[in-house]
Amino acid sequence: MSTSNAQVFLDRNRTIAPISPLLFGGFAEHMGRCIYEGIYDPRSPHADERGFRTDVMEALRAQAYTVIRYPGGNFLSGYYWLDGIGPREQRPRRRELAWQSLETNQFGTNEFMEFCATINAAPMLGVNMGTGTIQSAADLVEYCNVAGGTRWSDLRARHGFAEPHNVRYWCVGNEMDGPWQIGHLDAVSYANKALEAAKMMKMQDPTIQTILCGSSNDRMPTYPEWDRTALEIAWEHMDYLSMHYYAGNAENDTDSYLASAVLFERYVDTLEGTLRYVKAKQRSKHDIYLSWDEWQVWYKGDPVQGNWTEAPHLAEEIYNLEDALVVAQWLNVFLRKSHVLKIACVAQIVNVISWLHTRPEGLLKHPSYYVFKLVSNLARGEALDVHVKAATIETKQHDAVPTLDVSASYNVETQEGAVFLVNRSQTESVTTDLVWQDGQALQVEEAWQLNGGDPKVANSWEAPEQVVPKAIPTPTVDAGRATLSLPPLSFTVLTTCPA
Ligand code: AHR
Repeated sequence: MSTSNAQVFLDRNRTIAPISPLLFGGFAEHMGRCIYEGIYDPRSPHADERGFRTDVMEALRAQAYTVIRYPGGNFLSGYYWLDGIGPREQRPRRRELAWQSLETNQFGTNEFMEFCATINAAPMLGVNMGTGTIQSAADLVEYCNVAGGTRWSDLRARHGFAEPHNVRYWCVGNEMDGPWQIGHLDAVSYANKALEAAKMMKMQDPTIQTILCGSSNDRMPTYPEWDRTALEIAWEHMDYLSMHYYAGNAENDTDSYLASAVLFERYVDTLEGTLRYVKAKQRSKHDIYLSWDEWQVWYKGDPVQGNWTEAPHLAEEIYNLEDALVVAQWLNVFLRKSHVLKIACVAQIVNVISWLHTRPEGLLKHPSYYVFKLVSNLARGEALDVHVKAATIETKQHDAVPTLDVSASYNVETQEGAVFLVNRSQTESVTTDLVWQDGQALQVEEAWQLNGGDPKVANSWEAPEQVVPKAIPTPTVDAGRATLSLPPLSFTVLTTCPA
């Protein structure tokens, strides 16, 4: 193994922006075994009296999710929300067209609210812009957010929820640019419909925040024209523009895959430019931020069609170390782009495209589960504008990238900080000098590292702890400098506090 040197310069006065807590969100869709057998499984020995799997709830709480997006996804565009409320025995079983599955509707809007309360996360609901109408969208806001004395709010009370759910975040449709989407529209038709829906929804409750469908990914032929067009039409009634992206290593080109942060940053930069352009063109004082409300690694080819069965096994990816290092870079990008990126939801939180899998007897946590847990629990306060000097790695798909990908946070109130470092080299250990340039004395409180030598190493039911973060000795800070060795293919987290 060879070694190179790097320097990471930090200054607690050189900040980017406050880190939005909503960057640590998740997505739960009626797809495969996410809801059924993931969150809700009344037959499980782990189920509580409401049918929620307590082991799953505990694992999700440990990840400190702040917001959960629901109920889809492609599922959303064929969903009648009325199917999922009221007495369970009266709820219809339906053929669910997006994933060709059987939907029992035993879990719906009110169960989702209870689930969010259980894991201390805010709900983020989608309204159907495929088969749904602007009226049904506004009715759902009334059902959820109006205190009482009206048709839909009184129905909620009759369903056992006297208090309004006060849902603040609302996605106006899902991936409406995609030909696969039920009720797919062109940008102008979608934006006109979304504008009218958001208008009615905000008439019901002016405190809500709405999310406009952006492009489904940056490979769509209509990207970024879709985003510009939709923004120009709906600007004043929207608060966020959605981004979706799934990464992968289908070519088994690990050096390029481990440079994925380049793609993520470019995607944000392009849409940030689009937001600025439209705001200027509209002569608007209103701001719209980005909501990366589907992101994850997804490419390993598990089926996505359920053959008309209940809770089929769909998209149950098994993640390895290289996938975890891509997730770590994604989270680094969230911090580095925190001035414009305010919401992010990993797709999905359990079983489907997820780092958390259930079996009747227990749970399996993939390496990226731990990466997210570390960052979501430790990145607080403001993101720091970190300067990295490091050797570079040539990649086939993205030119040369630095061996290190880094982000950092600092909380002025608690005076606690955190530094998140990925060594993306497959062969080089990197001797790294951390240099705090602001002159305030500090010490490293804790240090954690996840590595494994082989990019394909993974956890399994037989060996569930092959790749988990381990506490490492904390480096000494002397005159604002500390040195530590970052092994190849590693993710390291340091927390700091006043000396
Ligand atoms: O998360 C799985 C699917 O990916 C979602 O339903 C859809 O929005 C995206 O294409």
